[in-house]
Amino acid sequence: MLLNFHDYRAAAKRRLPRFLFDYIDRGTEDETGPRRHRSDLDAISLLPEMLTGHDQRDLTTTVFGRTLALPVAVAPTALAGLVAYDGELMLARGVAHAGVPYCISTQSVTTVERIREAAPNANLWFQLYVWRNRDLTRGLLQRAAACGITTLVVTADTPVLPNREYNLRNGLTIPLKPGGRVALDLLRHPGWTLSVLLGYLRQGGMPVYGHYPEAFRNSVARAQLASEVAIDHRLNWDDIASLRRDWAGELVVKGLLSVADARRAADLGAEGVVVSTHGARNLDSAITTARALPPIVDAVGGRVTVLADSCVQRGSDVVKYMGLGARAVLLGRAPLWGLAAGGEPGLRGVLSMLGNEIDLTLALLGRARLEKLETCIAREGDAQ
Ligand SMILES: Cc1cc2nc3c(=O)[nH]c(=O)nc-3n(C[C@H](O)[C@H](O)[C@H](O)COP(=O)(O)O)c2cc1C
Repeated sequence: MLLNFHDYRAAAKRRLPRFLFDYIDRGTEDETGPRRHRSDLDAISLLPEMLTGHDQRDLTTTVFGRTLALPVAVAPTALAGLVAYDGELMLARGVAHAGVPYCISTQSVTTVERIREAAPNANLWFQLYVWRNRDLTRGLLQRAAACGITTLVVTADTPVLPNREYNLRNGLTIPLKPGGRVALDLLRHPGWTLSVLLGYLRQGGMPVYGHYPEAFRNSVARAQLASEVAIDHRLNWDDIASLRRDWAGELVVKGLLSVADARRAADLGAEGVVVSTHGARNLDSAITTARALPPIVDAVGGRVTVLADSCVQRGSDVVKYMGLGARAVLLGRAPLWGLAAGGEPGLRGVLSMLGNEIDLTLALLGRARLEKLETCIAREGDAQ
């Protein structure tokens, strides 16, 4: 029975080859980040009000002028299309059903055009990794805009690839090179290999990043292209200013952890920031979201929409980040565990499970709406 995050994660672990499960599940270096996120979230206690007499809860919230049925969005995750065959199409259809947004990653397996076609009414956002070649980057943005996407999420926290040693040990490369250790891993997970890997091979080859130029599929051309589409480690605030000029819709800067950075984003005209450690997957020793969020909300919450993410496992974690000031919360791993465990129905299952947990948390807190949740965060002396 899949009743909570841990059940879905365990089912995903059985289904996915190890190189993919570890890539999604783990942190970096000594992996203190995931542990510290969990201990900070777990250390937050909530103070319920009793006998408030509410019959039903309203879980809606408004983000960038659109009502979300739940205060969550599916975070951009590279290679989500490897988790299930056409996984990104499932994410788009699943969120349309749940009434929440899905942020497509620059590094998705499926293109933004195909994803839009699969879910014409989905609330889609687009995440940008700025490539060194700015003409190619601008071309990518035009494609997203042509698909009717108005919310652009620029990721600021990945100037270089983090140190994920397990990827090296597991032999994860894109495209996959199924030799040695990977071949064994594939044999041990025949369900995934037959449906996902063979599914893509039948469609024309090893799955790669769908937005990268066509020549990226060819190994000789790929070597030449690699530097053009490498994530630009020189990315700076002038680039954010220039993206602000170029992008007519909402601009969101993702991965900020300091008040100074959040102020700069707001001063440059961003509509949103995501307080995030990339799921504790980049700088292992980075401050946790739970600690970084409150001062950022105090500083810029009146000017921009503050979103948050990293290491959410329960609906109560969503309520806690909202209690610390986030308008809504992005989910990275949880939807992927749903996809791995059961395709689109699995994804829907995860979203509805988290929705039920948020509802239950609110009910036990004596609240009818997702408002003034900061008063639910218990402080020293509150219970006296
Ligand atoms: C497998 C995986 C791939 C990711 N790929 C991207 C990406 O392409 N772009 C990005 O901005 N963030 C990426 N992230 C970070 C997520 O957007 C999000 O910040 C993080 O996953 C939230 O933490 P959670 O997974 O614990 O919910 C990725 C996260 C995971 C787990």
